[in-house]
Amino acid sequence: MPERILTPCIFTIFGGTGDLTRRKLIPALYNMAVDGLLPDELAVVCVGRRPLDTQEYRDSLLASVTKHSRYPVRTDKWEWLRERIHYFRMDLPDSEGYPLLKAWLDDLDEKAGTQGNRLFYLAVAPSLFEPIVLNLHGNGMVTNNGSWQRVVIEKPFGRDLRSASFLNGVIESVFPPENIFRIDHYLGKEMLRNLMVIRFGNAVFESIWNSRCIDNIQITAAETDGVENRAGYYENSGALRDMLQSHLLQVLALVAMEPPINLDYKSIRDEKVKFLRSLLKMDDEAFRNHIVRGQYGEALLDGKIIRGYRQEAGIHPESNTETFIALRILAGNFRWGGMPFYLRTGKRLAKKTTCVVLEFKSMPEILYFKEYKGLQPNLLEIRIQPEEGISFSFNAKKPGSGNEINTVKMDYCQSCGYENNSPESYERLIADALRNDQTLFTSWEEIEASWSFVDSIARSWEKETASFPNYIPGTWGPAASDELLARYGHHWWNL
Ligand code: BG6
Repeated sequence: MPERILTPCIFTIFGGTGDLTRRKLIPALYNMAVDGLLPDELAVVCVGRRPLDTQEYRDSLLASVTKHSRYPVRTDKWEWLRERIHYFRMDLPDSEGYPLLKAWLDDLDEKAGTQGNRLFYLAVAPSLFEPIVLNLHGNGMVTNNGSWQRVVIEKPFGRDLRSASFLNGVIESVFPPENIFRIDHYLGKEMLRNLMVIRFGNAVFESIWNSRCIDNIQITAAETDGVENRAGYYENSGALRDMLQSHLLQVLALVAMEPPINLDYKSIRDEKVKFLRSLLKMDDEAFRNHIVRGQYGEALLDGKIIRGYRQEAGIHPESNTETFIALRILAGNFRWGGMPFYLRTGKRLAKKTTCVVLEFKSMPEILYFKEYKGLQPNLLEIRIQPEEGISFSFNAKKPGSGNEINTVKMDYCQSCGYENNSPESYERLIADALRNDQTLFTSWEEIEASWSFVDSIARSWEKETASFPNYIPGTWGPAASDELLARYGHHWWNL
């Protein structure tokens, strides 16, 4: 069990009535309260536009906690947290509210004994990051004088490299770099935190982790849900900006980076950045051959009509936004030279799964590989969610008098052993921000490197209108995604 956080603080959430606060942040705080991790001197101030008072707001949270927490609601623990939660009504872009917010927080600070420490969590639309940060500064709410003030910024950090650089400049003009926490919740997932241990804690893995032994690496982040009620945001981002630029490239960097010289976050960050910078940019020819985009159409699934993306509430009827992307990436470095990484992510796919599959090179076609055509290559599968675990498959003789061969699996199911109740990534990341540990947060250099890769894809897409919709809900995406791998003699492992 991690240690209790001892630093007093006011945790101020901008976007108090939003989805993220209700589904993730408050349930995470509740789980942390159950685990006894939060300090007594804690206040949680949720800032939002809706006309609610604190009592109404607190009451409205119980349903979210009941639905989204991993622990059942315990009255004593919920009461402990509930009485620390406050609601402050304010129009976030409007600078007039900030002096009032400051006075109110200062007053609360006295009562709650939080010693001027503040964690400002920006759970809002990206367009609000800049005005909020500037208003905090303009109203003397970021002093870092005897107390600390930190900011947590949700993704997407910018819309392209230019806007991300601008935003970063604004934030860094207000907060020192060590007080800026750019969150990517994938980095808090158990198996991603385990990935470095698996890679660098086992001689047997590290020595085969390269293009001499591995044929290709596949990373899949598939969801069965559609766009839900996030039309406004999603129309402007699509799968490329929503998932690939952040989560998928982070997973890729952890899978492929060189070993850091120590476990200091700066050393790890440097290796991730080095890898991201090694990704080969694509020319127009490569774009056509290496990238597939998709959008789900309408379908009848299990007797239910599933609306197509263009029919979802708030979506333009001729929307060109992709809900799926698959691509083949090459890295220009010694370890991975010439070996493809295949990445794909999408909504309304066949199942909810995030996993990494390493397909090892096949044996030469002699001995068994000559006799038994179609023997499976060795696979190392790292399951990130919903089940967490790792398995290795290899070929072995079927027991009995015959000579048949079959593929067998060694399997470690991490979530089975721990009753699938490991802390949610938001719990871990909030605790780290309160403890001032940047290890699992994204640095500006990583964001810069990933945008410069993603920007070139976005630019090439803008030149053409896609032929959407092109895949059926409940499948693994457009046929072109399978064809992409088939062109190189590969196929997706839909495990
Ligand atoms: C978010 C994206 O960052 O990650 C969502 O904005 C996506 O579109 C979500 O659904 C997926 O997260 P997870 O943890 O469920 O894989």
